[in-house]
Amino acid sequence: MSVNPPIRLKRGLQRALRHRGYALYRLTAEERAAIERRDDRESLDSVFGPSLDRLQELRRRYSEVDLPVAIHSVWGARKTRRGTTDIGWGGVDLRNFRGHSAYVWDYGSASFEATNLKFYLFTEAVRRKDRLGLLGTLTEDGAFGCSTYEYEGTGPVSRDLLDSVVEINFLDKHVGVVQRDDLRVLDIGAGYGRLAHRMLEAQPRIQSFTCVDAVPESTFLCEFYLAERGLEERVSVVPLDELTTTFESNPDYNLAINVHSFSECTYAAVEWWLQRLVDLEVRHLMIVPNNPAAFLSLEVDHRRRDYAPLLDQLGFKLVAQEPVFDDPQVQALIGVRDNMFLFERC
Ligand SMILES: C[S@@+](CC[C@H](N)C(=O)[O-])C[C@H]1O[C@@H](n2cnc3c(N)ncnc32)[C@H](O)[C@@H]1O
Repeated sequence: MSVNPPIRLKRGLQRALRHRGYALYRLTAEERAAIERRDDRESLDSVFGPSLDRLQELRRRYSEVDLPVAIHSVWGARKTRRGTTDIGWGGVDLRNFRGHSAYVWDYGSASFEATNLKFYLFTEAVRRKDRLGLLGTLTEDGAFGCSTYEYEGTGPVSRDLLDSVVEINFLDKHVGVVQRDDLRVLDIGAGYGRLAHRMLEAQPRIQSFTCVDAVPESTFLCEFYLAERGLEERVSVVPLDELTTTFESNPDYNLAINVHSFSECTYAAVEWWLQRLVDLEVRHLMIVPNNPAAFLSLEVDHRRRDYAPLLDQLGFKLVAQEPVFDDPQVQALIGVRDNMFLFERC
């Protein structure tokens, strides 16, 4: 085991840091290992190989789409100070797309120990909610940069796995998942396909699962990731410029899902998606907003707009609501007060 060199900082500097509210601490072996792993990242080419051509193609095609959903507040490609391009809140390192990123934040804390404790609480909270016993069947292999944590009696867990287990249990309680064989799901803003992967593994009899998104990198990752998981035959990933034709062919969906996506879309984009759900007569819509109690869009100038009246006006009635973490103490300690909402149109 390597030994860290002692911290040599002038006493005055240490005092000045403390005075401004900073503290210095020595990294644990796990933290150093995690940082070294991150510094030793592979190239885009070695992760995706020739599939990268598909990303270029999708970027070109999406740039030509003239729909309200193609206008972004936070998910438009932007130049970083380093001259690279980035997307989403906090950015996405495509090579480690399942790591802490704009797709799934990792609830990370300043130290590995604090994060580890948070994840212990998280895992225990999910275990208590997991009526379906999915923690015993779904697994986490840490692929593509996903941070994992392991405790007595569990295999490795991650936020990808734990969030998905909570969401599938919620859906099962209110619309049925495991007993049904007629579920036809439309996941809007599907990201890299996190929930598609988990739902299809939890329920092999799902009739169809369609992932849509308005960001070329997300569609690219979703296609790539679900193929890596061997699910390409069971899932349909529809690119943005094929959506109108796809929807005009009147596909039959009975459940739409939107997890942490409408909160990062403009009002016009949310309205466009909701109107499609009305046209397609989708019965159930699950939304997990970023705000615990409000349905707020994110405009191009970063103002927020309430889309709850729009849901009501379009006939979406709230039929179920549940916090991700039931215990208010756990909510406070993890710093997450997210709620899951289910709407129904009759
Ligand atoms: C925080 S991520 C959530 C991803 C996924 N739902 C999950 O929970 O793992 C937000 C997602 O919204 C997508 N998104 C951004 N703007 C969108 C838009 N106008 N229409 C649909 N999806 C959009 C992004 O590409 C990204 O996949």
